[in-house]
Amino acid sequence: TDAAASFLDGRRLVVMSNRQPYSHEYDGDEVVVNRPAGGLTAALDPVIQTVGGTWVAWGSGEADRVVADDDVVEVPPEDPAYDLRRVWLDEEQVDGYYYGYSNQALWPLSHSDTTRATFSRDDWKCYREVNELFAEAAVEACDDADPVIWFQDYHFGLAPQMARERLGEDAFLMQFWHLPWTGWDVFRACPQAEQLLDGLLANDLLGFHTAAYCQHFLDTVEATTDYDVDRGTRCVRQNDRRTYVRPFRIGIDADAQAAAADTDEAASFWETFADAHGLEDRRVGVGVDRLDYTKGIVERLEALEQFFETRPEWRGEFTFVQKGSESRSRIPAYRKVQERVEAKVADINSRFGTTDWQPIVYTTEMLSGEALAGLYRHADLCLVTSLRDGMNLVAKEFAAAQLDTTGVLVLSELAGASDELGDDAVLIHPSDTPAVADAIERALSMPADERERRMRGLREQVLDADVYEWIASQFRTAERIERPGPEQESA
Ligand code: G6P
Repeated sequence: TDAAASFLDGRRLVVMSNRQPYSHEYDGDEVVVNRPAGGLTAALDPVIQTVGGTWVAWGSGEADRVVADDDVVEVPPEDPAYDLRRVWLDEEQVDGYYYGYSNQALWPLSHSDTTRATFSRDDWKCYREVNELFAEAAVEACDDADPVIWFQDYHFGLAPQMARERLGEDAFLMQFWHLPWTGWDVFRACPQAEQLLDGLLANDLLGFHTAAYCQHFLDTVEATTDYDVDRGTRCVRQNDRRTYVRPFRIGIDADAQAAAADTDEAASFWETFADAHGLEDRRVGVGVDRLDYTKGIVERLEALEQFFETRPEWRGEFTFVQKGSESRSRIPAYRKVQERVEAKVADINSRFGTTDWQPIVYTTEMLSGEALAGLYRHADLCLVTSLRDGMNLVAKEFAAAQLDTTGVLVLSELAGASDELGDDAVLIHPSDTPAVADAIERALSMPADERERRMRGLREQVLDADVYEWIASQFRTAERIERPGPEQESA
């Protein structure tokens, strides 16, 4: 908060994200407000509450329109601290912008999955149109003063340029891209590559999770445009405009996660859950994911199958709990993942299960943050097997909840998190099925002192580099860029 306030220096902050921090839903005839339960919106909300400003987001709650006068509603409802400005989208816009270009072009492309990426002209048109709507909403929120606009993620590849055209050079624009940035030769698969780069290069500061993604971005600019790329200052120059490209690894609210793992609710959830699935006297593994093809859930289940097949001594001794949450289900590739996961779980359970032991417990039930923290706390290992992943926060949530430091993190080397957590996690390549099966055995057989040493290392890292540090470091960098002192070169 201090870093944000110091940088803003009285200017208005406008934050833009596709998902909104507060939504209104009907409960019967009554309207209830859903608060941010976790993730980025939950972490940003207290910061924006402190510095004030406007948050621009897609009004997607059933009752949002009924509550909001004039598009703007003050939040939080009981103690208004900032404006939430909704952008309203019709069905066709949601299809083209969200389900279409964002999630069937940019999402697979950024995860280097070009076979799943489709670049429809109609989707692109919608994406552009919706980016205009968001840019206009941001400009309206500025009240003619020079603002600071902070764009979140790949839904807004064009909005920075559109806002820049309206606001001029004195506005400070910054953006964080939460996905990986792929290599330039993969990004070429996108027919709108140049327009997207021009959109993003209207920012003064552009952030990615890792140094490698920054490098890939600069490579892409160099290969695609004739702008000047200065590798020394990690900056792109086009005439007088400069865009600084920097890594900021996102974290979680680690103290809150540790506290959640220590609640009565966490303990009682675990007790009931363990009892229902016969987990008390068994070793337990856990996986928690949105049902997305990038998470490598089917690949993980194949490794578990191979583990039980080649190590019969672990049958009846180890249970894997997979929690999945439905996501983007209007897209066929997502429905297919859901079906494949269900089928694979059923397969493994019928192949190896016995009357008193089920190898895989699969649930898509909504769990509270505390319940989930209880599950993480009591698990002996966590499997993160993403095929590509910008960061992966499950790895960090697991570590923060491991109050007893007995569990082992098995982590994909293709997740951004492996950059920081690679020394203390057991790293795997998610497509190397036998290696993942070996890693499961290694985690389960690891001596207690090694487990403790590794988990302490992970927790130290996760508690230290939390989401508040992620926010602060971006504003510190923004300040160095805007008011360069002797440190400019290292900004
Ligand atoms: C990723 C993206 C976020 C997004 C989240 C959930 O983490 O980086 O921007 O909000 O997935 O996906 P959804 O499409 O449901 O918002």
